[in-house]
Amino acid sequence: MNVSLLVPDRAETGDREEFERAVVAGLARTPRAIPPKFLYDARGSELFDAICELPEYYLTRTETGILTECTAELARLAGPGCTLIEFGSGSSVKTRLLLDAMPDLAAYVPIDISRQHLDATAARLRRDYPRLRVEPVCADYMALDALPVDLNGGDVNGVPRLGFFPGSTIGNLEPEEATSFLRRARTLLGDRGALVLGVDLKKDPQRLHDAYNDSAGVTAAFTLNLLRRMNRELGATFDLTGFAHDAGYDPVEGRIEIYFRSLRPQTVTVAGRAFTFAEGERVHTEYSYKYDDAGIAALARSAGFTIDRTWTDPARLFAVVYLEAAP
Ligand code: AVI
Repeated sequence: MNVSLLVPDRAETGDREEFERAVVAGLARTPRAIPPKFLYDARGSELFDAICELPEYYLTRTETGILTECTAELARLAGPGCTLIEFGSGSSVKTRLLLDAMPDLAAYVPIDISRQHLDATAARLRRDYPRLRVEPVCADYMALDALPVDLNGGDVNGVPRLGFFPGSTIGNLEPEEATSFLRRARTLLGDRGALVLGVDLKKDPQRLHDAYNDSAGVTAAFTLNLLRRMNRELGATFDLTGFAHDAGYDPVEGRIEIYFRSLRPQTVTVAGRAFTFAEGERVHTEYSYKYDDAGIAALARSAGFTIDRTWTDPARLFAVVYLEAAP
């Protein structure tokens, strides 16, 4: 039987308190920063889906193109009968490319922090893949190094595990976080495990700049939606016309840096506390690291993986990498 496992849903429990703590701490420190995961409330997730469709945002299109080409080979590398585990599954759109190429999976385990998203996605997949065992896990994949005990029973136990972490979400982690996430994934996937990782590559800075400063202003709306969320959930008093989206590429760090910037001197109340902003003062919301081959190899090595295969598009905008657990 396919049932959602009873891991507490953070969206239903301590989410608001956690948001308030993170925002107050993030605005009280220098330099100011709010963790990127808070960008993804329901509206933020919709805006991110819209970003993925933008002409300037080549990442999603390019990765989908690569996956379309490489899934047959990927299925051969993984072998028959493995369990596919997706970290941060969202609506599992790209996963379908893998599911189509791997009809004999032991199970598909989507891991996501949003119970709502997870259950809706699982229901759709069970409808479209009636023979697939779908075992959703509601959890923060950044803090998970074992699957819930119930899942270790039956045919999921003892079969190789294939992890899936697409979309260059690894790029939103700082290098130490990226290593520690991959180490956890290495533990969870086990000694016979492998991981399919999507990574955005270093390229012409103008192209990167445009991808995070689209002409339709969707990325700006995505950043500023965080202010709306603080107003709604924390009783904050951000005037959205007083702040702007600010994104640029730092070639030394090899990353896009995203902030919201105050357009004038102003004071904002958040959760009953006053925060003063100078004109031009910025609050950091996201990094998006871009990798080259050497960087990907170093990252894999640091987490106990070896690179078995790398697929890229002809313009080398994006890479899909097949990592195997190093002996
Ligand atoms: C989710 N992540 C991979 C996106 C990125 O490209 O770093 C988030 C994003 N932020 C603004 N645009 C896209």
